[in-house]
Amino acid sequence: MSLLPMRLVRRLSFLLRPLRALAARGWLREAEVDAVLAWLHPAWRLNRVFARVVGREWVSDDLLAVRLRCNGNARGWLAGQHVQLYLELDGVRHGRSYSLTRVGGDGLVELGIRRQPGGRLSNRILDHLPIGALLELGQAEGELQWPQPGAGVGLLAAGSGITALLGLLREALAAGYAVPVTLLHYVREAGQRAYQEELQQLMLRHPNLQVRWLLTGQPPVPGAVGGRFQAEHLLGMSGFELLTCGPAGFVEAVRNSWGGALQAESFSPLQRLSEPGQPVRLAFARSRLQVTGDSNRSLLEQAEDSGLRPAHGCRQGICASCTCLLLGGAVRDLRSGTTFAEPGQPIRLCVSAPLGDVQIDL
Ligand code: FES
Repeated sequence: MSLLPMRLVRRLSFLLRPLRALAARGWLREAEVDAVLAWLHPAWRLNRVFARVVGREWVSDDLLAVRLRCNGNARGWLAGQHVQLYLELDGVRHGRSYSLTRVGGDGLVELGIRRQPGGRLSNRILDHLPIGALLELGQAEGELQWPQPGAGVGLLAAGSGITALLGLLREALAAGYAVPVTLLHYVREAGQRAYQEELQQLMLRHPNLQVRWLLTGQPPVPGAVGGRFQAEHLLGMSGFELLTCGPAGFVEAVRNSWGGALQAESFSPLQRLSEPGQPVRLAFARSRLQVTGDSNRSLLEQAEDSGLRPAHGCRQGICASCTCLLLGGAVRDLRSGTTFAEPGQPIRLCVSAPLGDVQIDL
């Protein structure tokens, strides 16, 4: 039972500006102010974003549109950006990154959440998060933008990559964008054609929009556009600006086939070395813990296996929640292969594997 309605919490958010300034200068403790605000309403905080689930809608067999009403702290968010969603499962705080498919007035946002095989957090949200539940979001990040008017726009999405592009498309069409737009959505099976009904409606209302779904789980039909991405799928888009989102391999294939303007975002699982990991010594300085690990897995996984609970969010190197200082030794970035060996260097535990014995400020 809260003392204030959520609507009032959003409206009163601007009154907190002086307190935010004092907290930013260190003259107030944000956690203490938050404790008082949370007593007045469970979603009220100085800066942190809390949101209530106000709607759920399946938009394909495996993708759920979740609508949320945020407190007044979701400032400057844009469709096409992504946010961390945090939930506590069995006493451990987990976070995952999801795209904003809609940013409306009065704190309303929509996320697209896809079922992941074995994905504890997304599956818990899809199967058990009820309307009315309260959860925390991180601040929005992401650089994808609708291009300036030109010859046209090509949108290439694989799987849940559609969620990053849909919000931009919705806004552009609503704002009267009339230049040709071609959306290619690559999905394994027909049931994964997310937002199909809405996109078909949009095609009827906006003759400049063409949407094609390409099924990658079946061999392409001769003479028809289909199957996995191939350079020929870009025919007819000469002079367009491309926006693409999907697994890293897909985005790379698009990038290699296109010589024009392109914005890209990928969400690939991290690469691992194929050879077995070498045993290494991991020293977690603040925890006064030394363990034997390997040079293959991320430091986040290995710290968790050792009983530590480092802060983390996306586990993909995006949100920076797991950043720690490297005190000694060298690590390898699992995404790019880049080596970091400078003492005092901040590293992201979730995408860093030790290259030998390391000491971490954890
Ligand atoms: S958990 Fe997000 S960057 Fe590591």
